[in-house]
Formats: sequence, C-alpha cells, structure tokens
Amino acid sequence: MNEPRHESTHKKFYQMSLEERRRYLAAKAGLSPEETAILSGMPGLSPEQADHMVENVVGAFDLPLGIAQNFLVNGREVLVPMAIEEPSVIAGASFMARLARAGGGFLAHTGAPEMIGQMQILDLPDAAVGRMKILEHRQELIEAATKCDYTLEKLGGGARDLMVRILNHPLTGDFLVMHLIYDVRDAMGANAVNTAMEHLAPLVEKITGGRVLLRILSNLADHRLARARCTIPLAELASDPYNPGHVRDDILAAWAFAAADPYRAATHNTGIMNGIDAVVLATGNDWRAVEAGAHAYAARSGRYTSLSAWGKDENGNLTGVLEMPMPVGIVGGATRVQPAARAALKLMGVTRAHELAEIIVSVGLAQNLAALRALATEGIQRGHMSLHARQVAAAAGAVGDQVEKLANQLVRENNVRIERAEEILQEWKKA
Ligand code: MEV
Repeated sequence: MNEPRHESTHKKFYQMSLEERRRYLAAKAGLSPEETAILSGMPGLSPEQADHMVENVVGAFDLPLGIAQNFLVNGREVLVPMAIEEPSVIAGASFMARLARAGGGFLAHTGAPEMIGQMQILDLPDAAVGRMKILEHRQELIEAATKCDYTLEKLGGGARDLMVRILNHPLTGDFLVMHLIYDVRDAMGANAVNTAMEHLAPLVEKITGGRVLLRILSNLADHRLARARCTIPLAELASDPYNPGHVRDDILAAWAFAAADPYRAATHNTGIMNGIDAVVLATGNDWRAVEAGAHAYAARSGRYTSLSAWGKDENGNLTGVLEMPMPVGIVGGATRVQPAARAALKLMGVTRAHELAEIIVSVGLAQNLAALRALATEGIQRGHMSLHARQVAAAAGAVGDQVEKLANQLVRENNVRIERAEEILQEWKKA
C-alpha cells in the first residue's frame, strides 16, 4: 500500500510540514477549520473548561497528538489519533498497520457493551439464604435498575442480568457480592452503573436484611471484551539482513517468553498499552479503568500473562490476536466536554462506542507487533534513540533546523545526553 501523500506536494504524511498534515487531515476526514484548529491544540482546553472538569484547577496539561497511518479495520480506512509522549510509538503502529494491511488489515469485533456493577452485602445471619432471596427478586431488581436511566433505557440499554456469589474473609466472615450486568450502549457506563447500584442498595437491604457497603462498577469489564486479529504475510517480515522466516520465528519466541513469564508479560503488555492508552486518551476516555481492566484480565487464570497471542498459519504467515476488556464510550464524560476528544472521534469516523473499541484493540495489536519485531531484530534503541535525540536537542535549546542537525550529531557520537547537546550548541555559537 502507498503511504498517504499530500495531493500537491506528494510527500508522505511523516514528511509533510505541520500545516500540510493539517490540510491533508481536514480534506481526508472532512474536518471544519474549527475542528482542524482544535486538533492542532488551538485553542485547546481552556482553564475555564478544565475548571468544570476537576477540582483546584490552575490550567491544562498538553501531550503531543500524532495520527497513526495505514490502519484498515474491518475493511475501513481509519486515521488514528494518538496522544502520547513516547517516541517511536506512532511510527511503530503506522508501520505495523502497513504490514497488516498486506494481509487484509485488522478484523475486530466486540460483544454487547455490558458493564458490571458490584454490591457488597454484609452482616447476614445466613449468606446462602440471603443469596437465594436476592435471586428470587432478580426480575424486580433488574427492572428497578433499568428505570434508573431513562435515556439509556430509551436507547435500548439497561440491566440485563444479575448474579450473586458468597465470598469469605477472616475480617468479615461470609458476605455476598451481587453483580449487576448493565448494557450501557455508547457510554463508558461508570455513572449509569454506579447510580443504579446506589439506587438498588436499600431494596437489597430490605430483601436480605443485611447491610450494603460498597456499590461500585468493576473495571474487570469481562462482559465488554474487544477482539482483534491480523495476518502478516511472511514476505512482509523481511528486514535486511534478517530473512522473513527467521524474523517470524523470533517474534514467536519473543511472545512465548511473555506467555511464560509474568516479568516479561508486564513489559510486553506495556507495549500493547502504549497503543491502547494513546487512543483512549486522545478520545477523552478513562485510561486508568482500561489499564486496570487489561491487567486484571491478563491475570484471570491466576497467573499474569500476555494479553496477545501470536502464531503462524498453514502458509507460514504470522498471525496475531488480542482480546481484552475495552470499556470506552463516545458520549458523556470528558469525551463530550473536551473539544479535542470530539474532533478525534470525527477524524476516526466513529459513531458508535463499539467501533472505537474495535479500532483501539487493533492499535494495541499493531503496537505489540512493532515492539516484538524490533526486539526480535535490531533491538528498540536505534529507532528510539534518533527520536529521543530530537527531544534532547530541543530540551538543550536547539531551534528550527538545529534540532535535526544536533540530533543527528548526538546519534552519530552515540552520546544522546543533554550535557553533550548543550556543549555542541555552545561550540556552534562560538563558531
Ligand atoms: C516500551 O514502552 C515498550 C516495550 O518495552 C514493549 C516490549 O518490550 O514489548 C518496547
């Protein structure tokens, strides 16, 4: 596939100037001048808007926003906004999306957008009997929970199911945990679920005679999984001086390391989350909830392991799959308040939460492959260092053309340190 090019300059996206990239995106995604400006960080989140979002506000905090290229998700071209401070991530995702594209891109799907609300019920004379009493009132509780959110109910959402477990701890003795499964449609759902759980509490106390303590969403959203898979044609893995079969087999061995060892899995999954968090953040979603859910899901067997799985098909092509909870929304919360989040969704052409989840999980898989491929071949430091060198050059005070020139010199000298960058700048000034 050809890299996206600017109509007038025929440059690749990464070769365009900032202004050319903005014009290219505006034309491609049909962005208005206001939306394009918002994505450019101008005027950005005002302190007044921020003041309505959290407490004790003094301003807003910026991160670079880049657009990953080449993503084909369920046959649709997607421009992917990524908010991240780490070099190489956006380039890595774009490159791997290009390799995946040669195999048909990413195929992704999700289940129903069902979140879990938890309720802890203490001080029961007989937990087993209390459990039965709740189950006898299952329908009534489901209906009461659904009635809590008129808008969601109108959109076809609401409580779907209810289950009760008996847990035990030396501190409390037996207690009940009720799970309410709640279809939150296009919302992330925390507010809807927490409201429903608080609303049900007095009813549950009346039914059981117990005392309700916690009423809160679970971030282990394993009823709201997103899945993506891709096939990388073997030939795409050729990377001088490595032959493609060798690269594939070493990628598989690198994945096996993560599958077998929690110490490696934690870093392997960080690579996945580099992609996931950047899009979750750019679209104004709760990345802490997504992070916590991901790692809890990775440990669901009782042993923390890789979220992804890599293998090879009958033709020797590399195959990858990723499955994880993806509680993201496109309505409510910061997705609505933050202008940049709205513009990001428009850029992606996303109109439903499940479409966003499918793109995010595809980016996670691409990012994982970028890290594995680099680690299984030349290592990550070479690519990383040239970008890092630009940051160091800028931090040392280089401006304009100096940034690139200074960064190149730091890499050539194999000494990417701010002290050396400042020294070189001084030498240039004297000369
Ligand atoms: C760095 O942010 C992410 C990696 O460490 C991921 C990995 O090791 O797979 C490169």
